[in-house]
Amino acid sequence: MIGVGMLAAEGQMHKRQRRVATAAFSIQQMRSLVPVTFQKGLELKNKWLSLVSEAHDLSPDEKAHGGVKLDVCLWVSRATFDVIGLAGFDYQFNAIHGQTNELFMAYKEMFETAISQQNGGLWDLLALYFPIIDRIWPGERYRVVRKSHEVINRVAGRLVQEKKSKIEESEKAGSIYSGKDLLSALLKSNIAVDLPPDQRISDEDILHNINTFLFAGSDTSSLTMTWLLYLLAKYPDVQERLRAELLGVAPVAPLDSLTEDEIASLYTAIANLPYLEKVVKETLRLIPPVHSSIRVATQEDVIPTSTPVDLRGPGDKVEKANSFVMPKGACVHVPIEAFNLDREVWGPDGWSFNPDRWDKLPEAVKAQPGLYNNILTFSAGPRSCIGVKFSIIEIKMFIYILLTHFKFAEADPVGKANVVLTRPYVMDKHKEGSQCPLFVIPLDNAASPA
Ligand code: HEM
Repeated sequence: MIGVGMLAAEGQMHKRQRRVATAAFSIQQMRSLVPVTFQKGLELKNKWLSLVSEAHDLSPDEKAHGGVKLDVCLWVSRATFDVIGLAGFDYQFNAIHGQTNELFMAYKEMFETAISQQNGGLWDLLALYFPIIDRIWPGERYRVVRKSHEVINRVAGRLVQEKKSKIEESEKAGSIYSGKDLLSALLKSNIAVDLPPDQRISDEDILHNINTFLFAGSDTSSLTMTWLLYLLAKYPDVQERLRAELLGVAPVAPLDSLTEDEIASLYTAIANLPYLEKVVKETLRLIPPVHSSIRVATQEDVIPTSTPVDLRGPGDKVEKANSFVMPKGACVHVPIEAFNLDREVWGPDGWSFNPDRWDKLPEAVKAQPGLYNNILTFSAGPRSCIGVKFSIIEIKMFIYILLTHFKFAEADPVGKANVVLTRPYVMDKHKEGSQCPLFVIPLDNAASPA
């Protein structure tokens, strides 16, 4: 679906892609994406304000709350798609304002069809082991993915060529192309003089990585923000405390008129807020959007265990052991969520939402691996998430803008389900698809509900 970009590539191919992409995700490069994130956060805020002011026929509940009931999951995901479009390859999906853009629709349809039709039937299983089946008897999913690929290859392929021309033109003129998006950074890193020619990646790999960033970098961040807003609605005390901290950061001018430098200083202040940091960490711990992952053992190995395990030996005899043999080729389930929630590690309240836990972590937590604060949400090791800094910037910036303009209140009981990513569903309404309805109440109305 997304091609052999960094997420799917293996071995040398992965190493090459990761090396070229690392420069595109440097701290300096990430900072340059702050204004884009800020602009999209403002657009979402303005869109929600207009939805509230234009709303007619409010329900009694909406009137009582002084706001409207919105599916924050849908809206935030449209906004993060816009962010990754602009930050990723300087492209305006304009998804906040409408769902009509050709490329946006191609991605949306592709991801939705591929995911929603994973019903675990025999056909899916067969197609997984024998992909040729999809080509011989293309089902609905295969047709949609193929149609979407045609659009993506045409439009995104053209963007790659346009960017390359701009970079070459700048080079000829003796300057460096100033594009700040990931695609420009990827292309510049790929032609850097210190990169040996055999370490460069092809245009096709570049295109696959654009698809990969869109897939890996939009819904993951939007689901984190959705769950964060949901948790704030469920725990109003935490919401009030966080809002008080955020309102303490006063921008030097109205948000709509800040310069890029002013936005950068505002973000530095936001990034250092201690309670925001704890709320973000706790949300990422409690509801990691990537519920689990899978690895394959490339060689046989003996795996030590932290506590004795029961092993079945010859004649079904069960014995206690402190290690076991992992055969070559075995699939290993990496239980990210279970790892983050283990009460033996996190303490008896490990399943609760408690941002203050981060002030005094149990010793056992400090021994946990993890790219980000001893949690496995962004995985760990050489295949860990390359977009972690990007997503933290996006989450903190959006939460600042949204919480300083709106109050959020619970609307319907929401539960979580693992559908490739951990998505919200209204209880007993799973057939309506993933959604997270909340009352979104402008702060001015919150003080004096109708
Ligand atoms: C809250 C947001 C995010 C979460 C929770 C998250 C989580 C993860 C996890 C768990 C992995 C490892 C997957 C596996 O090996 O099975 C991963 C890999 C990856 N992520 Fe993220 N991610 C997030 C945001 C982003 C963003 C914003 C981008 C890009 C703009 C991104 C790009 C990638 C890429 C390219 C990989 C593959 C890395 C490799 O294999 O070398 N992610 N992410």
